[in-house]
Amino acid sequence: MKLKQIAITILLFTSLSSCYKDVGPIDDANTTQENVSFSADVQPIFNQTCISCHPNSGNLDLTAGNAYNQLVNVNASGYSAKRVVPNDAENSLLYKKIDGSGSYGSNMPLGGSLSVAQINTIKQWIEEGAQNN
Ligand code: HEC
Repeated sequence: MKLKQIAITILLFTSLSSCYKDVGPIDDANTTQENVSFSADVQPIFNQTCISCHPNSGNLDLTAGNAYNQLVNVNASGYSAKRVVPNDAENSLLYKKIDGSGSYGSNMPLGGSLSVAQINTIKQWIEEGAQNN
């Protein structure tokens, strides 16, 4: 009886610790945040870098309270593209205007660029469904 309990304990321990080892490296490799929040992560980038020109430049208002409704599934004013297509950064003007590709005129912010981390935050927000979260 006692031997059986010990055997079960060892079995449990090995299976649990192998689970832990399986998960560990995946977590380490995933350097980006799991979920990007529009209000906590994206809007602050707009506040810091974009709203000096974007209460109105390009008919685009990126100020808090207005930005989301100006972006998601909205046709661009200067290009034949949607500003943000949920789950599809490559077809979202917002992303193509900040990714350095120059595929839609000047890179934004005009005269500069966002950091790689900021670009990835916006990209990930779009790829996660561009939620109003
Ligand atoms: C110094 C002024 C300035 C800043 C700062 C700036 N923009 Fe712009 N933006 C413009 C101007 C002018 C246009 C219109 C010309 C064009 O499309 O390139 C524009 C156009 C755009 C458009 C296209 C809108 C449309 O529907 O045609 C997007 C998207 C955009 N900006 C995003 C951003 C983002 C995101 C930031 C901050 C990271 C930013 N901009 C910062 C001046 C600015």
